[in-house]
Amino acid sequence: MEFVKVSQNGFVTTVTIDRPKALNALNEQVIKELEEAFDAISPETTRAIILTGGGEKSFVAGADIGFMQNMTKAEGEAWGTFANAVFRKIELCPIPVIAAINGYALGGGNEISMCCDIRLASDNAVFGQPEVGLGITPGFGGTQRLARVIGSLSKAKEIIYAARNIKAEEALRIGLVSAVYPQAELMAAANKLANDIAAQAPIAVRNCKRAINEGIEMDIDRGLRLEANIFGDCFLSEDQTEGMTAFLEKRKEKNFTN
Ligand code: HXC
Repeated sequence: MEFVKVSQNGFVTTVTIDRPKALNALNEQVIKELEEAFDAISPETTRAIILTGGGEKSFVAGADIGFMQNMTKAEGEAWGTFANAVFRKIELCPIPVIAAINGYALGGGNEISMCCDIRLASDNAVFGQPEVGLGITPGFGGTQRLARVIGSLSKAKEIIYAARNIKAEEALRIGLVSAVYPQAELMAAANKLANDIAAQAPIAVRNCKRAINEGIEMDIDRGLRLEANIFGDCFLSEDQTEGMTAFLEKRKEKNFTN
C-alpha cells in the first residue's frame, strides 16, 4: 500500500494515513487502501486500533479537492456513497478504534475521526467542516455525525454553516475530543489508552462497543433489552470465568482469550 501504513505492537494495530505532501488528503486510492487495511485486521491478533496521520502537521486535511473539482452530480454522489461505506466499516469495526489527531482534521478528516470510538488530539490540532466555503456540503457523514457526537445541534450547525475551524481546546470543551496532549506526547497517550483497552477481556470490550453503538440508535427500553442480551452472552465466554476467578483468587494477572 502506498498511502496507508499498518504496524503492529502487541495487540495494538496502528493505521497511518500517510500522504503528507497533500496533508493526508483522501483520494480514491487512500480510501481503498484504508478499506484494505481495516479488512485485514482481525480480533484474533488485535484488541485496539489507532488511526493517525503521517507527518507533523496534519491528521487528514479533507477529501482531495483536486480529485473532486470536475465531478458531475452522479460522480459526486458515487464518491460520497463509496467513502461512506468504508467509513461505516471503520465505525462498525468490532475492535475499538482510537483516532490520534495530530494536526488538521478538516472536512473528511474530521468526518473520519468521528467514525472512531475515541478521539485524542494534539494541541496543534484544528477541526472543522470547511465544505460550504468550497460550494459543497460535508459528504462523508459530517452532517449526520457531528451533532450526534457533540450532542448539540446548535454548535454543529454553527461549525458547518459558518465553516468555522476550532482549535483543540474548544474541541475538548464541546466534547468532540476526549483529551488534548502536547504533540510530542500524543502517540504515547494513544498507545497507553490502546494498551489499557487491550488489557481487558476482549470479547467483553467488543460486546460493549456493540451495545453502545447499537443502543444509541434505540429507545431506552430496547437499548436495555439489548444490553441484557449482550451481558448474558458474556457468560458464554472463558474470559468471564477467568476474570471473576482471578478476582476471587486475588490474582492480578489474567489470561484472557481473544
Ligand atoms: C487536496 C490538499 C488538501 C485537500 C491540503 N492539500 N489540503 N490537496 N485536497 N483537501 C495540499 C495543498 O494543495 C498543498 O499542495 C499541500 O497540501 C500543503 O497545503 P498548504 O495549503 O500549502 O498548507 P498550509 O498553507 O499549511 O494550509 C493548510 C490547510 C490548507 C489550512 C489545511 O491546506 C487547507 O485549507 N486545505 C484544505 C482544507 C479543506 O478545505 N478540506 C475540506 C475538503 S472537502 P501543494 O502541491 O500546493 O504543495 C471535504 C469534503 C468531504 O473534505 C466530503 C466529500 C464527499
